[in-house]
Amino acid sequence: MTETETLDAFPEPLLTTGLTLPNPTPTAPAADPGATAPATATAAPQSDPEPETWEQEQARRAREERAKQFRGMCPTLYRQTDAARLPPDRLAKVLAWKYGPKGLLLVGPTGTGKTRCAWLLVRRLFMEERRRVMCFDGIGWGISVAQAYGEPDTTERWLDRLCKADVLFFDDLFKANMTEAQEQALYGIFERRAAWLRPVIATMNITDGMILARMTDNGRADRGEPLLRRMREFCEVVSFGPGARASR
Ligand SMILES: Nc1ncnc2c1ncn2[C@@H]1O[C@H](COP(=O)(O)OP(=O)(O)OP(=O)(O)O)[C@@H](O)[C@H]1O
Ligand SMILES: [Mg+2]
Repeated sequence: MTETETLDAFPEPLLTTGLTLPNPTPTAPAADPGATAPATATAAPQSDPEPETWEQEQARRAREERAKQFRGMCPTLYRQTDAARLPPDRLAKVLAWKYGPKGLLLVGPTGTGKTRCAWLLVRRLFMEERRRVMCFDGIGWGISVAQAYGEPDTTERWLDRLCKADVLFFDDLFKANMTEAQEQALYGIFERRAAWLRPVIATMNITDGMILARMTDNGRADRGEPLLRRMREFCEVVSFGPGARASR
């Protein structure tokens, strides 16, 4: 998955947060006390539902558009998540996260439901709270950095977009060894987003020691340690440790 196009499509929220559409319920006609019962039982005639107001139509269309964008953003597998199969305490912690400058790191072994929990949260942020979201998985991140670092102009614009999105979501951060450009970008993003009071949400299944070992400076303190410090400082950690396995 590569970065989403949602940033440009929704420069500003179109409508106020939390707007829900009323569900028009057809009303049965009032009973006529003088009327005789029909000889055969037929369904009572239903009056037409109230026509949508202009505002309702706009809200419905905006919501449909958002749902379509979410389908393009979130892989099918994760859209089919059954929340009842995820570790309930971890899911509750993830969904309890409230939008703010301090992000969220979902850390723990493979197969424990980190990505699925994170997508449920991202869905809420995008669909209900109408946040501008950018998402990367391990592969998409590498490709995006390689493209952006081709030219200085592109790099700056790309970084700016990443740093000003309401939510930046990395799935499987540090899955692959990083290039120097990826490390620099990641460091800059954590630093700058913190300065703009914008959160990062990320899942990862490796420990600090493994992260340091995967850095191009092979764990020397000049890049790895400062990056880890920022990640811990600017994010709350939800540990999917022992006992968090999602049900099969
Ligand atoms: N439809 C479903 N709804 C909820 N959970 C599911 C569903 N199908 C499979 N699972 C469970 O989800 C687990 C995988 O979830 P997820 O991909 O979020 O794990 P993860 O912690 O991100 O793993 P990794 O670190 O390898 O990326 C599977 O082990 C399985 O038990
Ligand atoms: Mg995952």
